[in-house]
Amino acid sequence: MKKKVLVAAAWPYVNGSLHLGHVAALLPADVLARYHRANGDDVLFVSGSDCHGTPILVTADKEGRAPEEVAGQYHDEIVETLVKKLGFSYSLYSKTMGAFHKGVAQEVFAKLHADGHMVTREEQQARCDTCNRTLPDRFIEGKCPNPKCGVEGARGDQCDTCGHLHTPHDLIAPHCRTCGATPVWKPSTHLYLHLPAFQKHLAEWKEKSKEGWRENAVKITEAWLTKGLEDRPITRDLSWGIPVPVEGFTEKVMYVWFEAVIGYLSCSREWASLQTEGLPEAWREWWDNPEAVHYYVHGKDNIPFHTIIWPAMLMALGLHLPNRIISSEFLNFGGVKLSKSKNIGIWLPNALAKFDPDAIRFYLTLNSPESKDSTFRWDDFEARVNADLVGNLGNFWNRTFSMTHRYFGAVPNSGVPVSDESVVLWMASPTALREVGAFIEKGELRQALVSILNFSRKANVYIEHRAPWRNIESNKAHVAETLKVCMEVADALRRLTAPFFPGVTERLNAYLGTDDVSWRYSPLAANTPIGQPTPLIPKVDHELILGEIQLAEAGE
Ligand code: MF3
Ligand code: ZN
Repeated sequence: MKKKVLVAAAWPYVNGSLHLGHVAALLPADVLARYHRANGDDVLFVSGSDCHGTPILVTADKEGRAPEEVAGQYHDEIVETLVKKLGFSYSLYSKTMGAFHKGVAQEVFAKLHADGHMVTREEQQARCDTCNRTLPDRFIEGKCPNPKCGVEGARGDQCDTCGHLHTPHDLIAPHCRTCGATPVWKPSTHLYLHLPAFQKHLAEWKEKSKEGWRENAVKITEAWLTKGLEDRPITRDLSWGIPVPVEGFTEKVMYVWFEAVIGYLSCSREWASLQTEGLPEAWREWWDNPEAVHYYVHGKDNIPFHTIIWPAMLMALGLHLPNRIISSEFLNFGGVKLSKSKNIGIWLPNALAKFDPDAIRFYLTLNSPESKDSTFRWDDFEARVNADLVGNLGNFWNRTFSMTHRYFGAVPNSGVPVSDESVVLWMASPTALREVGAFIEKGELRQALVSILNFSRKANVYIEHRAPWRNIESNKAHVAETLKVCMEVADALRRLTAPFFPGVTERLNAYLGTDDVSWRYSPLAANTPIGQPTPLIPKVDHELILGEIQLAEAGE
């Protein structure tokens, strides 16, 4: 039976456009999904839009629109940009405001409640009588309670100036962010997820599986476990969210993180329900199968939700626990953290309007914040794409195809290579597939790409040294050997780069008349016709880069 691989990518909040920092954190998921498919595994790749929670409410409020309208708009934008243009090959990209997710989330909530995993507690809840609603944390502002800071306008849950974490109740002179009125405090009863009961099991599981996690995930999880897990409130007094299906709490909605992580399961079940009739239980092959491998891909601010809260819920449900945690550090832009709440950064729709999607994928992988923060720079983007993607890889493909076309019109039939340098390069393809595959499986995508570029560089050195253009009159057999080896390497590079560059792959496939991107060494047959090559990857336009630099400097 084929290996079942689940790739679970974080669900973006739909309160604004995605920026390249989000894309950098999610991109490993698409590379992993494409690689595992090429490797012959059965891949289920799920995600969707995270539609509830205060981030969407804050935007809706600011723009005077309904939250479902805001969420719907950005959901559609993500489908257009991330999924269609950038080529994220999700099995299904869903949304948490859909009926299917709502049903599964309520089923899970009710089960965890019935099985005794929740406790009840009373807390002080802020209300604005002027606006006539309860105020979520981010709707209250006041003076920061940290004596060292004391800045005005600190948010209810956190101070953006000093980073202090608090509850709205701790703020000095709190007021409603919308109208400025002083909130009144009313007691409200909430359900809490009883995490301490999972402490021991989570610690054992972390120890067993941390080999497959990025270091930041191990560190943050260990810090939580060392501190000791506490009950977490999972209900909210809000109107925007999924209603709590428990007697006495039906006026409340679920905490956004509690229901969003359930999305991985609901999306898998929704995907199964959409498959050929009679297979609605197919999701169990991934979720109820100890042999399955589950990757979770997200940014570092998401870690505890994927290594503590969701695994605890999965333990309660008796479903497959995460195996690999691929959590990225942050991508900075000109040294500033990209953030939706500030008017800076590089927004995906804007980037896609100007640059080739594969150029973006290429640079975000090569410069990926894999083990430490990295910085996106437009001048570096231009330099790397033009030198490495176009100059190295693109150039090798182009030279190989155009000379093969010109001199032979087909893959030459030269038999086994005889010269040492040909044999060395000829034997490098299977090795590259093994090495690059191992890096990808370890989640080291940057290293995988560097290895591909090194291989391509060697191939360029080979073709340079063999100089077919100088030997074509005097020694056609020499040229045939050279271009046969080059065609085989060009084809291996097509397979190696397929998980990274779907657009380039599509053009190469169309050109070579194949759609086989399987992860094995299986060169094009001799005598396969090779036509006039078509352009594969455009160079980055220097004028566009200058424009971007100006915009960034103007703070737009
Ligand atoms: N919406 C969250 C964010 O953008 C991520 C949610 S991931 C999920 O940070 F696990 F909850 F789905
Ligand atoms: Zn108010």
